[in-house]
Amino acid sequence: MSCTAVILAAGKGVRMKSHLPKVVHKAAGKPLVAHVVDAVRAAGIEDIILVVGHGREHVQKIFAGQPVKFVVQEQQLGTGHALQQAQGAVDPDSTVLVLAGDTPLLRASTLQLLLEHHQKCQAHATVLTTFLDDPAGYGRVLRDEKGSFLRIVEDKDATPEEKQVKEINSGIYCFQAGKVFQALQQLQPLNAQGEYYLTDTLEILMAEGCRVEVVPAAEPEEIHGVNDRIQLAQAEKILRQRKNLELMRDGVTLIEPDTIIIDSDVTIGCDTIVWPFTLIQGKTSIGEACEIGPWTNINDSRIGHRVVIESSRVKEAEIGDDCTIGPYAYLRPGTVLLEHVKVGDFVEIKQSTVGVGSKIPHLSYVGDAIVGREVNIGAGTITCNYDGQRKHQTILEDQAFIGSNTNLVAPVRIGKASVTGAGSTITRDVPPNSLAVERADQRVVPWKKKHDH
Ligand code: UD1
Ligand code: CA
Repeated sequence: MSCTAVILAAGKGVRMKSHLPKVVHKAAGKPLVAHVVDAVRAAGIEDIILVVGHGREHVQKIFAGQPVKFVVQEQQLGTGHALQQAQGAVDPDSTVLVLAGDTPLLRASTLQLLLEHHQKCQAHATVLTTFLDDPAGYGRVLRDEKGSFLRIVEDKDATPEEKQVKEINSGIYCFQAGKVFQALQQLQPLNAQGEYYLTDTLEILMAEGCRVEVVPAAEPEEIHGVNDRIQLAQAEKILRQRKNLELMRDGVTLIEPDTIIIDSDVTIGCDTIVWPFTLIQGKTSIGEACEIGPWTNINDSRIGHRVVIESSRVKEAEIGDDCTIGPYAYLRPGTVLLEHVKVGDFVEIKQSTVGVGSKIPHLSYVGDAIVGREVNIGAGTITCNYDGQRKHQTILEDQAFIGSNTNLVAPVRIGKASVTGAGSTITRDVPPNSLAVERADQRVVPWKKKHDH
């Protein structure tokens, strides 16, 4: 049986009090709706349709280049109306899995369970529910005296007795597509919010003699919906804990994990140790047997094996195997370090490639440079890459030795195995195997200090 997932993501999310649509807000470094799409994909469903509307360009941008289809809901008239927009894009003979874009804790295994139950029972509709101690805000699942499903009542429409019900609607369902699209046409917005409620289709289908199943989810936390910033923070906390546990299970040591923040899409190899107060974000990958932190922030970077990074900031950089970084280094976008590079304290590197075995141990700025193999850059060396209008390149060939406190005024090239004298301001190219010194002669004059104690 073919299956299409329809993710409802057109709402504004008024309770977020935001200029952005709710589903693009991030939890654990990933937009809420991307968590849902990933869970759907991990459950083996390839055909994914997103219903977008409010701020749709923001939602579409997240999935640029990905095999996800979009349908537009121009006016947000409710969840039923939202699903209706997908009718033309769904085969009426297929199973449609409907989800909300604001449930980032959902796991693929739960979706599989729901689909299996739906197919086994040959149901026309199956709704995923759960039991919450505090069900406030959710739709309640109403059952008759025998426990058979009756209907769902929204929080805003519920009577005080109905509000006591602890079983809630997750907002995740399977439907026989043809049936649900027929039922949607009969919806009436006769409720407190004046909306077309998707939940009402269950009652309509029952009245037509269709089979409606209810499956309670194993873990209530999975259906946690994010409607405001407090629920966003709760989701974030759970996702972070899950990620840390997953990494530890896979052989990564986290020292004081509660102080370590690692985004969902980060990968880390075994035997790597992460020290406290470290933040690893975005699409970062870290190899095996590294030591990261303490006090380190890395995002969207590729780090090799056996790399040590202490108290440093690394952003959109690539670091080869066996490099040592920090403490207090700042590696900015476009930094590429090949293997065995040492970058020490108070060094800033930007848009530069550094060759195998080179060292920049202290107090330097290296920008727009190509640094060869086994180059040594002395303390206080600065590439003067900017003339006020344009950026220029500095090239340091293999085995060059840059004396301390050299100013390299770009564009400039230091030849293979050449040396610059400490304190020189180098403005012209230096050929290979040469020494370039630019310094006034030292004067020595007789002198007596005025206050000599
Ligand atoms: C919905 C359910 C409720 C359930 C809860 C679970 C209905 C009527 N209610 O309520 O029973 O307990 O989810 O989290 O379905 N959306 C659109 N277009 C619209 C309206 C909403 O695309 O016109 C999208 C939203 O972007 C969101 C999702 O549908 O991703 C759910 O909408 P939301 O307003 O959050 O519904 P709830 O009030 O939480
Ligand atoms: Ca919701």
